[in-house]
Amino acid sequence: MKLLLTVSISILLIFGCSKPPQNISNNSTETVLGTIGDSAMVASAHPIASQVGADIMKNGGNAFDAAIAVQFALAVVYPVAGNIGGGGFAVIRESNGNVASLDFREKAPKSASKDMYLDSEGNVIKGKSTIGRLACGVPGSVDGMFELHKKYGSMPMDQLIQPAIILADGGFPLTQNEASNLNRFQEEFKMQNNWDLPTMRESPWKEGETMFYKDLAVTLAIIRDFGKEGFYEGIVADQIVKDVQSGGGLITMDDLATYESKWREPLVGNYRNHKIISMPPPSSGGIALLQLLQGTEDYPIGTWGHNSAKAIHTMTELERRVYADRATYLGDPDFYDVPQEMLLSESYNEERFLDISAKSKTPSSEIKEGNVEMIESVETTHFSVVDVDGNSIAITTTLNGYFGNKVMVKGAGFFLNNEMDDFSAKPGVPNQFGLVGAEANAVAPEKRMLSSMTPTIVEKDGELLMVVGTPGGSTIITSVYQTILNVIDHEMTMQEAVNAEKFHHQWLPDLILIEENRFAENVVDDLTSMGHVIDVRKQLGKMDCILVHPDGTLEGGSDYTRGDNTSIGF
Ligand code: GLY
Repeated sequence: MKLLLTVSISILLIFGCSKPPQNISNNSTETVLGTIGDSAMVASAHPIASQVGADIMKNGGNAFDAAIAVQFALAVVYPVAGNIGGGGFAVIRESNGNVASLDFREKAPKSASKDMYLDSEGNVIKGKSTIGRLACGVPGSVDGMFELHKKYGSMPMDQLIQPAIILADGGFPLTQNEASNLNRFQEEFKMQNNWDLPTMRESPWKEGETMFYKDLAVTLAIIRDFGKEGFYEGIVADQIVKDVQSGGGLITMDDLATYESKWREPLVGNYRNHKIISMPPPSSGGIALLQLLQGTEDYPIGTWGHNSAKAIHTMTELERRVYADRATYLGDPDFYDVPQEMLLSESYNEERFLDISAKSKTPSSEIKEGNVEMIESVETTHFSVVDVDGNSIAITTTLNGYFGNKVMVKGAGFFLNNEMDDFSAKPGVPNQFGLVGAEANAVAPEKRMLSSMTPTIVEKDGELLMVVGTPGGSTIITSVYQTILNVIDHEMTMQEAVNAEKFHHQWLPDLILIEENRFAENVVDDLTSMGHVIDVRKQLGKMDCILVHPDGTLEGGSDYTRGDNTSIGF
């Protein structure tokens, strides 16, 4: 098995992935198809991680085995967001239609407190929740993978971790994107660490260079040999605690030893005769997505045309209201009574969207006041897997910012998260995504911070139709929303839906973000005349999705235009 995986990864490195997407032109009127597989597919942020997952399934593993292997592989080849030092969420649909969701989100350390990011005058101290050791929540990813394996795994766990060990120890070639990510954060690596990280270098990293993570290989081998205790107890836990506490962080051995993933009832809703299965709190993703879809059902979005001014205006007005609800009502349900039923009820949403005007925008200040700055960086990663039996899983996982808090655990070789910034440090003051929050998402010991991650599975007529997700911080929800509409209302292929230009509105700041140079001038003019303020972003989202075609074949739609995202199927 070990040999098989080594050989397969080498083949990929030499020949690239099989059946690449067809026709990459944006302007073409021809159908653009993603990677086609007869029966199984992995779509992830990195070609090597996708290959690892596909190999696991070729060797008899199921979708859940493959997902575990992909999670560990991404921690090596995609350390900007792939992780063992972060957390995430999984939405699961078994081939028999049973659904589940797993919360392996980070939690606040036991000594965390509501005002820990405020100065003596009650103002937020800039950077304290985003960079360095105090920004770090207790990691959940390793526990999550073991929990997933306990319930759904079919292959021995050591075989699922082994490909990541081989990559970390034996090295792998850097992509252009990964090389430039490493170059971009050299200063932060130096500032936050007092030792020579494998990611640090005087001369710039270049595409094709071999990257090794020797310490990480040892850490992964300890996890392989000792199970999750290999991470949450013993030498690795000791390394985490020593490093975190050396810089004023709060995580203790007890915080690590008591971390637990949680199985939660997934959210299930409907959209134009499709069943939508998504993530409940502490992610806001599922509730917000279902609210947006409920609001959209009243409008013939498909006949208005994809990204017509009318469609963007209407979707923006829905987003404005839904994100205001997100800021007010959502937080960790174990600490705050989230009014989930109310937010998802038809009567509430009918009333909520009643004042949307077809002609002009509603200023966000009229919906609820706030005081915000601009959105900054967005990084997380998502992957989707479907196996030969039709089991499927959508996982979104994160360190929060690029390379998390920029701290690599000394001796253990992996980056820690800066997820504490997803709490609301002070009601009404925005986090790094420009998101504001309220009491529902205030910091508290052992509480999970609110997330926007939206791993989602769509069913049609009782059968699996689509597995969807993306990184992008606060923009995750709106990218998943648009991608679902692109397939259902605009009848796009999976790849077209992923490639399509995206926009985003989140109530505050009161502006529509659009992808640079992707929207027609007359559409922007029409939106401006309705009162909307437009701002541009280089790109929004990096989707990794899978669509089941009517003939049963699978189409992987991976965002190869915005990242290294790659689907591999067979
Ligand atoms: N850290 C991004 C999110 O959880 O939404």
